[in-house]
Amino acid sequence: MEDTQLISTQRLVFAVNGERFELSEVDPSTTLLQFLRSHTRFKSVKLGCGEGGCGACNVLLSKFNPKLKQVEDYTISSCLTLLCSINACSITSTEGLGNIKDGFHPIHERFAGFHASQCGFCTPGMCMSLFSALVNSEKTHRPEPALGFSKLTVSEAEKSISGNLCRCTGYRPIADVCKSFAADVDMEDLGLNSFRKNDTKLHKLPFYDSKQITTYPEFLKNEYESTTVLNNRNKSWYSPRSIEELTSLVEYNSADNGVMVKLVAGNTGAGYYKETDQYDTYIDLRFIPELSTIKKAGSHIEVGATVSISKLILALNEEINDDTVFKKIASHLEKIGSESIRNVASIGGNLVMAQRKNFPSDIATVLLAVKSKVTILTGVKKEILTLEEFLEKPALDSRTVLLSVFVPYPKPTKNGYSEKANAKVIFQTYRASSRPLGNALAYLNAAFLAETSVCDRGVRINSVRLAFGSFGVKHAISASTVENYLVGKMLSVDVIYEAVKLIRFAVSPESGTSHSAYRSSLAVGFLFDFLWPIVEADGCVRTSTCNSYGITSRMAFDRSETTTLLSSAKQVIESSSEHYPVGEAIVKSGSAIQASGEAIFVDDIPSPLNCLHGAFIYSTKPLARVKRIKLNSKKDVHSVVTFQDIPKGGDNIGSKTLFGPEPLFADELTQCAGQRIAFAVANTQKIADVLADTAMVDYDMEDLEPPILTVEQAVEKSSFFEIPSFLYPSHVGDFSKGMAESEHQIHSAEIQLPSQYYFYMETQTALAVPDEDNCMVVYSSIQVPEYAQSVIARCLNVPEHNVRVITRRVGGGFGGKALKAMPVATACALAAYRLRRPVRTYTNRKTDMIMAGGRHPMKIKYTIGFKSNGKITALHLDILINAGMSPDISPVLPWNMLCALKKYNFGALSFDFKVCKTNHSSKSAMRAPGEVQASFIAEAVIEHIASYLSLDAGLVREMNFHSYDSLRLFYGVGAGEPLEYTLPTIWDKLMKSSNFDYRVETVNTFNKNNLWRKKGISRIPILHEVSLRPTPGKVSILRDGSVVVEVGGIELGQGLWTKVKQMTAYCLSAVQCDGTDTLLDKVRVIQADTLSMVQGGFTAGSTTSEASCEAVRLCCSVLVERLVSLKEKLKEQSGSVDWDLLIMQANMYSINLSASSFFVPEFTSMRYINYGAAVSEVEVNLLTGETKILQTDIVYDCGQSLNPAVDLGQIEGAFVQGIGFFMLEEYLTNSDGMVVVDGTWTYKIPTIDTIPKQLNVQILNSGHHKKRVLSSKASGEPPLLLAASVHCATRAAIKEARKQLCSWKRLDGSDPMFQLDVPATMPVVKTLCGLDNVEFYLQSLLSSS
Ligand SMILES: Cc1cc2nc3c(=O)[nH]c(=O)nc-3n(C[C@H](O)[C@H](O)[C@H](O)COP(=O)(O)OP(=O)(O)OC[C@H]3O[C@@H](n4cnc5c(N)ncnc54)[C@H](O)[C@@H]3O)c2cc1C
Ligand code: FES
Ligand code: FES
Repeated sequence: MEDTQLISTQRLVFAVNGERFELSEVDPSTTLLQFLRSHTRFKSVKLGCGEGGCGACNVLLSKFNPKLKQVEDYTISSCLTLLCSINACSITSTEGLGNIKDGFHPIHERFAGFHASQCGFCTPGMCMSLFSALVNSEKTHRPEPALGFSKLTVSEAEKSISGNLCRCTGYRPIADVCKSFAADVDMEDLGLNSFRKNDTKLHKLPFYDSKQITTYPEFLKNEYESTTVLNNRNKSWYSPRSIEELTSLVEYNSADNGVMVKLVAGNTGAGYYKETDQYDTYIDLRFIPELSTIKKAGSHIEVGATVSISKLILALNEEINDDTVFKKIASHLEKIGSESIRNVASIGGNLVMAQRKNFPSDIATVLLAVKSKVTILTGVKKEILTLEEFLEKPALDSRTVLLSVFVPYPKPTKNGYSEKANAKVIFQTYRASSRPLGNALAYLNAAFLAETSVCDRGVRINSVRLAFGSFGVKHAISASTVENYLVGKMLSVDVIYEAVKLIRFAVSPESGTSHSAYRSSLAVGFLFDFLWPIVEADGCVRTSTCNSYGITSRMAFDRSETTTLLSSAKQVIESSSEHYPVGEAIVKSGSAIQASGEAIFVDDIPSPLNCLHGAFIYSTKPLARVKRIKLNSKKDVHSVVTFQDIPKGGDNIGSKTLFGPEPLFADELTQCAGQRIAFAVANTQKIADVLADTAMVDYDMEDLEPPILTVEQAVEKSSFFEIPSFLYPSHVGDFSKGMAESEHQIHSAEIQLPSQYYFYMETQTALAVPDEDNCMVVYSSIQVPEYAQSVIARCLNVPEHNVRVITRRVGGGFGGKALKAMPVATACALAAYRLRRPVRTYTNRKTDMIMAGGRHPMKIKYTIGFKSNGKITALHLDILINAGMSPDISPVLPWNMLCALKKYNFGALSFDFKVCKTNHSSKSAMRAPGEVQASFIAEAVIEHIASYLSLDAGLVREMNFHSYDSLRLFYGVGAGEPLEYTLPTIWDKLMKSSNFDYRVETVNTFNKNNLWRKKGISRIPILHEVSLRPTPGKVSILRDGSVVVEVGGIELGQGLWTKVKQMTAYCLSAVQCDGTDTLLDKVRVIQADTLSMVQGGFTAGSTTSEASCEAVRLCCSVLVERLVSLKEKLKEQSGSVDWDLLIMQANMYSINLSASSFFVPEFTSMRYINYGAAVSEVEVNLLTGETKILQTDIVYDCGQSLNPAVDLGQIEGAFVQGIGFFMLEEYLTNSDGMVVVDGTWTYKIPTIDTIPKQLNVQILNSGHHKKRVLSSKASGEPPLLLAASVHCATRAAIKEARKQLCSWKRLDGSDPMFQLDVPATMPVVKTLCGLDNVEFYLQSLLSSS
């Protein structure tokens, strides 16, 4: 041990963006992200999840290899990387690529120019993922690309961001940025961008020079040899260089000596097991040669335990001896986590996690299949174990080190049957997960190795190994019963049938595992997929009696197919120069600084002196008295703030709406699991988070009524929120009469719709700074600063003018930063008020997910009357909305729902809404709140009728389209003028542009020819009524002619500032002097400040941008009026006058150059309907339930778009968020109503590999809307509703699958009545396609033989 101390170097040296950092004291648990964000000026690394799942924190790590004299560069997740592990490394963040002063990097410029950054929170991480791919492509030996391009291929370029999440854009424009650097890109394939002027050829992209950035500074090269040993008081970090050194370190620092030791390699395990344990000693294993090398021999490959997954993939792909097994293992490993994880995640770390903590590993499964072995070291004792023995051992203690993994090269053995010359090794791996490219744990993974030989009787299985993992058992297993059954058998249909029956039992998840039956059915599918081609390759399919069926099965896993991403996209927009620069697709304001990481979000504001940090402690019980809150460690806590800290006269209020408030903290009783009960305040966010996470709350539930956790219970107890009569929508027509006119009726059909989480990339955050005279300045990431101001004032019992809430930008809101951001700001303000110090919080993802509430779940019953041709005569709905514990905006939901539900002419429409008060977190507005559910309900009704009558759903839709008259009947004045009803035009346009009829035929043909994949196609319309709200604005012209604008609306990424800038420039140019053509560059929209601009209201409901534009237009017309006579006078004097001179003179003449306005929409024109339609085509895999979205075509009417690039971004982004709701995102709760999906591991938003492979969007510039703001219409929410087309297409594909299943079961026809749940996840789809479809297929073959 002493030796180790002697060679120690008590310092850590590294570089960040070329700057040298040298530290002698580091807490070894500090992550790189924590260091960068709190100790440097580099704030571009964003905390999106803290678990390696989002890519927002990605940076490039560069390391010098002195032996090879080469620099290695790769992305890492800075949220998981321990600072001590980067000794002698260089870190490049997006600030290091370029900035506003020295010039942006072409990556930044292209993100801006391709409109690929909306809120901008994901953008720095995206830039770094792409940059890393570019840097590494230069190291390949590919031919030199054309000047300005890289050596990347298009497909690599797109894949480079597959581990990054973006909740705003829908990925298409980001993919375009990436592709624009690729050597093989067809420039004409690139989407809408600002580099293509006037629709001419794209000739000039910001120039890319691969040599522009040096990732590894010279000065670091001398640092390499030093060994890091850092002692920070009683915490140490060691980087031993030999096994002996390691052994002595482990012995010395053992638990027996009372030392908590952590062995570390990549530390990515911390992303899954968010340990709160405090370790005394960290031992970095990566510098021990035996652990970090790969040794290859003819018969095997031996991999050191700390070798990263990426390095192993490279090594396996280089293996020329073997073109199947190792390459297939490599290909499987490529689906583990994301690139930034694989680059540091070690093989050993993964296996130890699997062994010690039952981690659902892919590596254990694939290595088990090829009969790998491991070497472990305990003390000085080395042991070689088979992987099975290793996995089955009791959990390794902290002294045992995994040294290496031995992977044999599978080849035909020289015994048994395989002595025959034709013996063959067949290997295949499988994984079913919600994301095809990985970054999602598998429901089941598997790897099968078989040795077969062919004889005249067919194919014989000589040996076989069937490994399965990740299905809810302790570790990967090999299915020995099935292996034993298969060995020695001649393959035939009946043998396969027996084998799949056996595998269902062998792969049986432990009780309590989610989707148990689905996982077992996957095993059946995988095995079938493995064995069937073997017999097929034999030329015929046999039963044991060797009958040939002579048919091909057309498998679900097409081996020749590589996972393609977004292969193409088309955008059709019509810009209009009538109101220049309004109508132009100009680049989003601030997008370049978002890309370079210079844009400041709330948590980027440097902490004021003495700043404290808070974290919420929330209830885990839905209805209980809180007796006591016990904190794990008293020494680190500064304070625990509860409702008792609210000053005298102040209210316990956290948020409010017209319908009532929600308490800031639970007082006597908790009202839901996830309710805030206290705010733990500490010196750092990390400590506050640990304190809150480990706090123990004692509850008392004696004599309490049981909580209300379902809408049915709410009905039983009449627990409702009142819907004010002015918000209760009116029925249409006479329901009884409509029913009497019907020829068919469906009664009380039921649909359930679930919740959805916002997943804004920036979680809830605020900073409160006490000011003089009892004032408080609060920086909040909020959509409604005005309301926060009022709530804070009420809580602190101060007048509202004492509270200033400032919001510059919001890292994604989607409704979740409206009501739900208020308590976060208020808790900080209360703590700051109490403690007389600044207090901030950045809510961690888990807490955010638990407290957020999200979209309203609901239960719907409907009764329909209709004619034989599909015409609906009456519809009645009973809708129970789960509103949660407080009213929030829930009483508005019925109104909202009707705005979208009335999309069809239902004849007569009646309904009964109940807004149920339950013991769940209060549900809140989420993008298209109520409308998306209602639009879906209307489609479900249509599909139900179509199935009932065996009619095409499209025909039933058209049968029930509104005429203008019926539209007027259903929507009243909202219907506008007849010309404004553009849906019929859109519908026809879309049919043509999507080639709909032809594609329906090809889908039918495909379905006839494929057994295990079925396609579906669907075209749906949407109607979505929106309302304008009063909004303030203020425009001020400064002495130099520059213009500063304030509006009520908040920039959430939706491009509000950009549209407002355009409108300001357009309206001020009405003064008609020289120089107004450059006004756009002179306008700056500034942050919202509740003391500067009052009555800011809500930024919600899709119309804030246009309302803000209108407010600005009012201000500008006042200013123009004030300036025009001066301009005329000056013009008379000197013939011409330019803007700057005019403003200078206006100042001399003391003209008031600031104007405020408050736009109040006229009652008759404040409501209007948005129209759009989409066609989606999907392909469903019948063995796994995976749905691929092959193509989506959208036509959407933006009136006369204020900015088509911004609107396009809204349309695509909303649509993809809708895909999340309909297909992927499960926001699950436990029986107490507590959210149980609490991070990126369990909550899967769309990624680049789950969006449509082809996405075509046309913005219709219908322009008839004279009562709208410059004829524009909304785009923020309505397009989300179009994603129901994917769901409907999936239903169509499933219908085909069920028809086929019926024929296998020898039942007549299909069973058309089935409900496809939302979201239609893989288990849901597979269940409907038949969990036992393989068995039925085989049975049908056997019985027909
Ligand atoms: C976002 C994300 C997604 C992922 N997805 C997948 C997936 O789809 N499939 C899959 O299989 N895996 C997945 N993983 C797991 C990943 O493969 C492991 O986290 C990684 O391999 C662990 O290696 P590491 O070097 O980071 O280990 P560390 O985090 O450093 O260590 C993990 C644990 O093992 C111990 N340890 C490490 N090395 C040794 C050793 N040589 N001897 C003894 N103990 C040791 C450590 O003390 C620690 O307890 C994912 C991880 C992340 C973060
Ligand atoms: S914050 Fe690091 S990956 Fe999400
Ligand atoms: S722009 Fe990607 S998350 Fe907002």
